[in-house]
Amino acid sequence: MTRIPHGTSGEPNPLEAFSLDQLRRRTSMKWRTYPEDVLPVWVAEMDVAPPGPVVRAVTEAMESGDTGYPAGTAYAEALAAFADKRWGWSGLAVERTAIVPDVMLGVVEMLRLVTGPGDPVVVNPPVYPPFYDFTRHADRRVVEAPLGADGRLAPDVLERAFREATAGGGRAAYLLCSPHNPTGTVHTADELTAVAALAERYGVRVVADEIHAPLVYDGTRFVPYLSVPGGERGLSLMSASKAWNLAGLKAALAVAGPAAADDLARMPEVVGHGPSHVGILAHTAALRDATGWLDALLDGLDANRRLLTALLAEQLPAVRYRPGDATYLAWLDCRDLGLGDDPAEAFLRHGRVALTGGPPFGTGGAGHARLNLATSPEVLTEAVRRMAAAVRAAGGARA
Ligand SMILES: Cc1ncc(COP(=O)(O)O)c(C=O)c1O
Repeated sequence: MTRIPHGTSGEPNPLEAFSLDQLRRRTSMKWRTYPEDVLPVWVAEMDVAPPGPVVRAVTEAMESGDTGYPAGTAYAEALAAFADKRWGWSGLAVERTAIVPDVMLGVVEMLRLVTGPGDPVVVNPPVYPPFYDFTRHADRRVVEAPLGADGRLAPDVLERAFREATAGGGRAAYLLCSPHNPTGTVHTADELTAVAALAERYGVRVVADEIHAPLVYDGTRFVPYLSVPGGERGLSLMSASKAWNLAGLKAALAVAGPAAADDLARMPEVVGHGPSHVGILAHTAALRDATGWLDALLDGLDANRRLLTALLAEQLPAVRYRPGDATYLAWLDCRDLGLGDDPAEAFLRHGRVALTGGPPFGTGGAGHARLNLATSPEVLTEAVRRMAAAVRAAGGARA
């Protein structure tokens, strides 16, 4: 499988389009959860200008009144073409896909297909908190298999979790986050092949959340789980929502490997009533026509990763940050700051800057905070300034 590296697109950096005043007029969760004096760098929304092709697709739908129910396979076709071009993967078969309302509801539906109530679902903490909430909401039980200290999958830990999960005789699933939120780890072909072998050995079904896949930086290769040897029984969830900032335009795709096609075919027809037709049009336009925008975004995010490294070294050298190879999320180890289990609380209280707290990410989350890099260099700089001020204030309060 060859991967075609993305190049500089010549498009403007979408992270530099809006001023803070303009962003504060937004009405979404990122901007309305905290009071005006708080700088929000938490939930995974991006401070970007929307991609032109998406704006045109949505505008055309509105102007022509094309706002009914979804039909057709254009979304899956666009994703298949993107996967082929971007990741050199030609194995995404449109007939083995289904449109779902969003990635997390898609995860729930996939878990329902391959496990029963009370069955275990293995996850790799620290991990995206809704992996816990949605699994439990679906009446499944979470079994933790923490990432190693290097932020990578730990095969022995995973094997122990698979053994524990299957010991009771129920059907077990493994909810893989690929690339991983919050560390930005991109699993290698070897790691995923080992996962598939382990899953086969223990009869564990793999459900891969690959929502962050388009957000892999140059120099690293994203490997779709369904493309590795043994991945044929896997189910994947993909979406344009994270990479093109379309969370408000709900839609996602469930994709089955060849040996999981029968499972996906059992997904109830009613699930397909959830996604929005306009959302699907937007996602399709993004995947098909907005790869130049994505490349410009990745260039901007890459610059922000480096800026964050420099700002922390200068103002908060005790914070440990290992830039991930994917996602716009920075997982900050703040344990040496002495701010307790939830440093985001101190950043908010003393610095008026909102990060995502670490504890809900499960084992390994305490003492950490997650910072959203998808903003302008100015906002990022101000965020770190406020964090450093918070540490000084908290220290002063303790002294
Ligand atoms: C790993 C992961 N999965 C799912 C989601 C949410 O996706 P959706 O809004 O399509 O459910 C996110 C959002 O940040 C995420 O990071």
